Amino acid sequence: MLAEMALWLATPANRMTRRLGLVTESVSLWARGLRQRKAWAEHHARCRAIVAETVAALPQRRTAAILGSGLLRDVPIELLSANFERVLLVDAVHLPLVRLRMRFHRNVELVTRDLSGIMGWLAGESGHRADPLADLAADPAIDLVVSANLLSQLAWPVEDWLEDHPAAAMRLPADLPARCIAWHLDDLRRFAGRVVLLSDIAMTERDRTGTITDRLDLMRGVALPEPDESWDWPVAPFGEEARDRESIHRVQAWRDFR
Ligand SMILES: C[S@@+](CC[C@H](N)C(=O)[O-])C[C@H]1O[C@@H](n2cnc3c(N)ncnc32)[C@H](O)[C@@H]1O
Repeated sequence: MLAEMALWLATPANRMTRRLGLVTESVSLWARGLRQRKAWAEHHARCRAIVAETVAALPQRRTAAILGSGLLRDVPIELLSANFERVLLVDAVHLPLVRLRMRFHRNVELVTRDLSGIMGWLAGESGHRADPLADLAADPAIDLVVSANLLSQLAWPVEDWLEDHPAAAMRLPADLPARCIAWHLDDLRRFAGRVVLLSDIAMTERDRTGTITDRLDLMRGVALPEPDESWDWPVAPFGEEARDRESIHRVQAWRDFR
């Protein structure tokens, strides 16, 4: 708990990123990932394998952009750094642990950016969404884009924020969380290079008898094409969030999303 508090304080982030709970979430993801190292290993290995196989098949390897790079558990960062001239790690939050580790990779750059494009809109600083990937989508040297388990994370902070700010919510579209998901998919389609999309798309909660106690569409109704692969990720095994309840996420992967 103390380590989590220290990490929260030491993580640089702007006001809206903190208010949306993204720093808290990154820190708790770091801690939970340590606790659930075994349970999460297969999910991380499958993600990393898809990225590694894609890299091996690319004809050119100039720049790779990893969207939602976070703790770098689901992307093979050493392999990316060794194979590409330049690697951009794009996330709203880069924990100090990641910043420190990446100091030793001369071709890796950390880009701190809101990939939903709506933080300024939520804060009342603008009346519309900003284009979060205008510069990168126009960069012809980007040969690989990986959206690394980011997509589902674009919706819930907005949902929570709208709930906590009913007056501000009145001036915003009610379906903003779903729009954030759809916008990210549109953003990915604008890149000229190869796009790998990895995302959890649904959550199922079960009790110890196997009875389903809750289900959630993490895509908020946004339709996706058929994936190339899918698997279960035990995000919260029994005992993590509740003694007699587990939470399993369905993950899907697209090797060439565009
Ligand atoms: C489930 S984590 C991804 C895990 C990461 N790829 C890893 O291996 O650790 C989701 C990531 O999306 C980032 N994220 C969530 N909302 C974001 C936003 N609006 N803009 C940029 N990054 C965001 C979080 O900071 C977090 O690092």
